[in-house]
Amino acid sequence: MKNQTVIVLDFGGQYKELIARRVRECGVYSVILPGNSPLERIRALDPIGIITTGGPMSVYKPDSPRCDKALFEMGVPILGICYGFQLMSYTLGGRVESCTVSEYGQTDMVCDPGSAFFAGFAQNQTVLMSHTDRVTAVPEGFVATAHTADCPVAAMENPAKKLFGVQFHPEVIHTEDGVKMIRQFLYSVCGAAGDYSMDDYIDRQVKAIREQVGSDKVLLALSGGVDSSVCAALLSKAIPNQLVCVFVDHGFMRKNEGDEIEAIFSKRDLQFIRVNAEERYLNKLAGVSDPETKRKIIGNEFVEIFQEEAKKLNDVKYLAQGTIYPDVIESGTDKASTIKSHHNVGGLPETMDFKGVIEPLRGLFKDEVRRVGRQLGLPRFLVERQPFPGPGLAVRVMGELTKEKLDILRDADAIFREEVDRLRKRPNQYFAVLTNARSVGVMGDERTYDYVLALRAVITDDFMTCEYAPLSHRLLSRVSRRITNEVKGVNRVTYDITAKPPATVEWE
Ligand code: XMP
Repeated sequence: MKNQTVIVLDFGGQYKELIARRVRECGVYSVILPGNSPLERIRALDPIGIITTGGPMSVYKPDSPRCDKALFEMGVPILGICYGFQLMSYTLGGRVESCTVSEYGQTDMVCDPGSAFFAGFAQNQTVLMSHTDRVTAVPEGFVATAHTADCPVAAMENPAKKLFGVQFHPEVIHTEDGVKMIRQFLYSVCGAAGDYSMDDYIDRQVKAIREQVGSDKVLLALSGGVDSSVCAALLSKAIPNQLVCVFVDHGFMRKNEGDEIEAIFSKRDLQFIRVNAEERYLNKLAGVSDPETKRKIIGNEFVEIFQEEAKKLNDVKYLAQGTIYPDVIESGTDKASTIKSHHNVGGLPETMDFKGVIEPLRGLFKDEVRRVGRQLGLPRFLVERQPFPGPGLAVRVMGELTKEKLDILRDADAIFREEVDRLRKRPNQYFAVLTNARSVGVMGDERTYDYVLALRAVITDDFMTCEYAPLSHRLLSRVSRRITNEVKGVNRVTYDITAKPPATVEWE
């Protein structure tokens, strides 16, 4: 049975995924499409509602993303947010102008509780504003339903046509009643039945996988990351003993990680193959210090090893992948869809001959994947794990790789993570990097000449940009003391305080 669907039309705003997730949290399935999607594509999904997102452009500029005017005449309820609101206004004959005073951050707003959109809400609201343009005249048939000190039209509506627009961002927590407003739009305006729930997701997928696969065998490249691990757990529930997981241990995993992955998955009803390829990788990478070359060699080698293993398993008919929804969302408003090539472990060869590909997590956001993982009984540390690059510690040891350098980093990184893990509020990603620099130090009466280690901890929503995490000096000095005392080969510890941009999260 098909779920009711709300389409999130993306006009380039940073919150498109958040909007889609909020809709799902309200019990309604959502998909994200580019803002300029043809109407036929939109109609084909038979949406009960459409939400148009924010975006960085000005609607009155000639090259700004637009939509078909007929979108507003389809009879489908629409909620325009920020740019989406301005676009609705502009397209239907309202006026949009540059702000005399831009509004950024939490703002006091007065709304009309007699309006359809704000029915039942308090007149005074705190909302998140982030705009440099504003609607100064609403289109015919619309009424303004909210204002702030600097924004005469903070919301508008044409309830007869079920068209609504808000200048603020209801999807973020800084808009205190924002989620309630989205819920009201979904249930009172779109007539949502609330038929989307993660509760029966596992059962539905188990059934679908069994139907697709029959009695054939399935091969999964298991990296130990959240997505491929949850995929493995789901498949092993659906088709016990028909699943083969190949875990290529390149030797660049964190401390004890390879063994932990093996311990978890060799207990499940699946065939688990661990390929210990550390030596092979180190030989291939000997003398290589350029980051991109390192990454390429690691990716290519993975494909080779995986192919070698697949060849040995000639009765395998399907390939499974832990692709998740953010991997397949078409970005921005570009006509050409930019689909991020999956996977953590590097692209798999197209030449491999399979009857089909199985991607049971393809429709899920990361938090939904984690929930499925928890329901399937995967340990917390695996399900909650922070992002970890496919090439692993190979891109956290600067320059040429040696086993000695990797072991030093593994020990130092484990100490840093252990200390940060004790915090109640943790950064989004935190790890250690072994730099290529050596410095002079003194330990006891001895002069040392050892590696300089860098700590990196970042705060971010989407990993596209980040700020460094303001870890306390107390924590940093404890970590520094522990690392220099406990890890041989490091005599100096630094903390990376660079944002992205101009830096990146990883060092290579
Ligand atoms: P950068 O360094 O580009 O990292 O700012 C952004 C986020 O992506 C992660 N990252 C990777 N993830 N394969 C992955 O699956 C990779 O090759 C890779 N490189 C970086 C990084 O850890 C951060 O979370």
